[in-house]
Amino acid sequence: MALIIDCDPGIDDALALLLAFGSPLEISAITTVVGNVSVEQATSNAQTVLNAAGITGVPVHPGAGTPLSGLVRASSSSHGFDGLGGRGSEPLAIREATAVDHLLRLSRSKRDSLTIAALGPLTNIAMAIQRDADFAQRVDRLVVMGGAIGSGNVTPAAEFNFWHDPAAVDVVLRAGFTRLEIIGLDVTGQVFLSAEARERIRLSSAPSAPFVYEMIGAYFDAYWRSHGVVGAEMCDPLVIAHLLDPEILTLSEAYVEVELEGQSVGRSNVWPTARYRDKIANARVATGVDPQRFFTLFLETTFPASTA
Ligand code: BDR
Ligand code: CA
Repeated sequence: MALIIDCDPGIDDALALLLAFGSPLEISAITTVVGNVSVEQATSNAQTVLNAAGITGVPVHPGAGTPLSGLVRASSSSHGFDGLGGRGSEPLAIREATAVDHLLRLSRSKRDSLTIAALGPLTNIAMAIQRDADFAQRVDRLVVMGGAIGSGNVTPAAEFNFWHDPAAVDVVLRAGFTRLEIIGLDVTGQVFLSAEARERIRLSSAPSAPFVYEMIGAYFDAYWRSHGVVGAEMCDPLVIAHLLDPEILTLSEAYVEVELEGQSVGRSNVWPTARYRDKIANARVATGVDPQRFFTLFLETTFPASTA
């Protein structure tokens, strides 16, 4: 399996990348997109995370700087001014957005064996579909962090990634992917990194541990300010964990559509096809999670205990 991680780092995107780097997954490329931060900052942040983990040889391709709708919605405030809780570098000047070219190229060279993990708004993926209608058919599997069956996180109705570019979500949902999996807030809300787990990261021998410990501190502060709880949700790492261990999540077939305007813009309407028998499934949606199994995998893979 070849893997592209399309992301908008973002603290939880950074943690997802680190989980992937520590695992046996073969990462062909990282593509970046506007979302939590500008695409210039997201691209710089992806590179910062690679450096923190001591990873070389994984290309980072900058992607869309504007959502498909053309409307740049507010970025997420949970990740600090630079997306990495103050641990980022200057935004990278981007000469050419090459992400979509690479998505298309790899979908041809790795036909039927390409998995895409989409951890940010779906702008790049939708642009690839718009450029080549056959793209979706060549991709083996698209796993998306986004949406919610229940409540949103940026409005009562909408989850951030879907809300940021609903037009792109719509294109993706209609594209006819054979294996589209959607991991939304219903399950990510159950994987909350604790203060104890953060301490375990500090004590780890992973080269990225000091960087991550500090970065998570900013994430905790944001959750404390907005939710009044100590900890932080591991939205994006759950996608990578699902690729590594299919037992962590339970998924159900559903027909999914997205609200394109109005007060509930960005909301995902999820129709389980076991219940709504006239609907034809276009995705499998995560409905259950084993948080313990997730955290064991996440910590053991990314932050092995120090032996010193
Ligand atoms: C999603 O929004 C972003 O802030 C996170 O990185 C995650 O991808 C959660 O709603
Ligand atoms: Ca993200």
